[in-house]
Amino acid sequence: MQNFFLLLSYLIGSISFIVGLKMLSHPDTARKGNLYAAIGMTIAILATIFLYKDDSGHYLGNYPWIFGGLIVGSLLGTIMAKKVEMTGMPQMVSLFNGMGGACAAIISIVEFKHLMHKPIETPTDFFSNVMQTLSSVLGNNAGSNSQLILLTILLGLVIGTVSFFGSMIAFGKLNGNLNDKTLPAQQIINIGLLLIIIGILVAMVGGYTGIDITVLFWALFGVSALYGVLFVMPIGGADMPVVISLLNSFTGVAAACGGFLYSNPVMLTGGILVGSAGTILTILMCKAMNRSLTNVIVGAFGGNKNGAAQQEVGGTYKEISMSDTAVLMAYSKRVVIVPGYGLAVAQAQHICHELEKVLEEKEVEVTYAIHPVAGRMPGHMNVLLAEADVSYEKLKEMEEINPEFAQTDVVFILGANDVVNPAAKNDPASPIYGMPILEVEDAKHVIVNKRSMKPGYAGIENALFFQPKTSMLFGDAKKVLQDLVAELKGL
Ligand code: TAP
Repeated sequence: MQNFFLLLSYLIGSISFIVGLKMLSHPDTARKGNLYAAIGMTIAILATIFLYKDDSGHYLGNYPWIFGGLIVGSLLGTIMAKKVEMTGMPQMVSLFNGMGGACAAIISIVEFKHLMHKPIETPTDFFSNVMQTLSSVLGNNAGSNSQLILLTILLGLVIGTVSFFGSMIAFGKLNGNLNDKTLPAQQIINIGLLLIIIGILVAMVGGYTGIDITVLFWALFGVSALYGVLFVMPIGGADMPVVISLLNSFTGVAAACGGFLYSNPVMLTGGILVGSAGTILTILMCKAMNRSLTNVIVGAFGGNKNGAAQQEVGGTYKEISMSDTAVLMAYSKRVVIVPGYGLAVAQAQHICHELEKVLEEKEVEVTYAIHPVAGRMPGHMNVLLAEADVSYEKLKEMEEINPEFAQTDVVFILGANDVVNPAAKNDPASPIYGMPILEVEDAKHVIVNKRSMKPGYAGIENALFFQPKTSMLFGDAKKVLQDLVAELKGL
């Protein structure tokens, strides 16, 4: 009967993960989705603690340790989540992700020790061992069970360790504690380390006896840790979200290995969902930036695709005063705000919402144009604006808003740059060529707020700033918005 309730709780846990994940795909339901998945997870954890019995009929026990860990972890997690600034979210995600990787690696370390205390089915010869393991993986029972367990343990160790060390380096870089560092022949060293990892894996699973298996295990751990560090070290700071999402998918796969090891369906489902969601997100982010994953991992932004020279950008730009901006907006029918990374840096989301309300009091229709990679992490702008209580209905995705710019009086760009750069459409030599952009030039007036004429993340000039319909409104986004709201209220 107990087993029935345990399985039922796992089923509830698995379903709640799937439903929760589905709900995360829309801002309206995202909070609830997160809550449902958390409740499912809590049910599964409590059921495991109180209902699970091992082969000899013993409950888990160790309750002070388990609940001590749960209480300390929950307290730390809650305090960190409450304190984190919006601009600090990528660091936080990478830290939490690293913890997941560490758990998966620790499971492998513990289970390896258990496995070593059991009699291992005697290896026959190297190649038949490898082949038997493969056939077990493919579901053919001819394979040796302990080899299959060993392979699962080793995969969990490698993937979890790479994910932990990679995430820690990502955290250090995003937090400003570490700089990008590239070793000479970095890629060759990385490929070499990967080959060593594969070599040790094959040797261990194949039952190679020339070196003690425990020595091989720790060597595998060490090389994986080094690979995790060297894989993330050279990647540019702002590319970190893509890498974090990739590492996140690694953690999911490592957790799935744990689920497989313990025959725990909820851990397996959770791991597979995290693994696949992370992979999909990584692909989507790369697509939205028009870059390949190899390009993100191996090098600099973009890359000139045909060797042609980039188009010259320059000329004169014009500035607009605060009072002219206020008048132009107040007498518009439709204003579209384009938020970007600078808005997050300035923490100007609340005053931006205030601007929206003041304009609406003057019967101006206000919406927000959200580019998929505006900011520095997926959903950055959505979360930022949600924090300031901007209604989700006002946030329009790129595909939806692009045809509407032609009927817009004023586009107000707040700390965005690359996501409105026309070079993505008309300069084949530009590193961002092919990246879909917000087609703001179709509007009647474009006002750009930023602090200077400096380029954005991609490091390239923006011809939009020099177009006749564009006016620059220089200054920190928060200060500019405060002054603009005051000006509008005085009209
Ligand atoms: P960016 O192109 O980076 O431009 C941001 C602009 O904000 C800068 O030009 C900067 O100009 C301005 N700025 C900075 N601080 C400001 C402040 N306090 N007040 C006003 N302006 C300020 O940002 P974007 O348009 O949002 O594009 C995002 C970029 O990040 C894209 O290239 C994208 O590919 C990349 N990226 C995004 C992601 C995700 S998932 N979102 C992941 C990786 C990479 P000044 O210095 O002159 O003020």
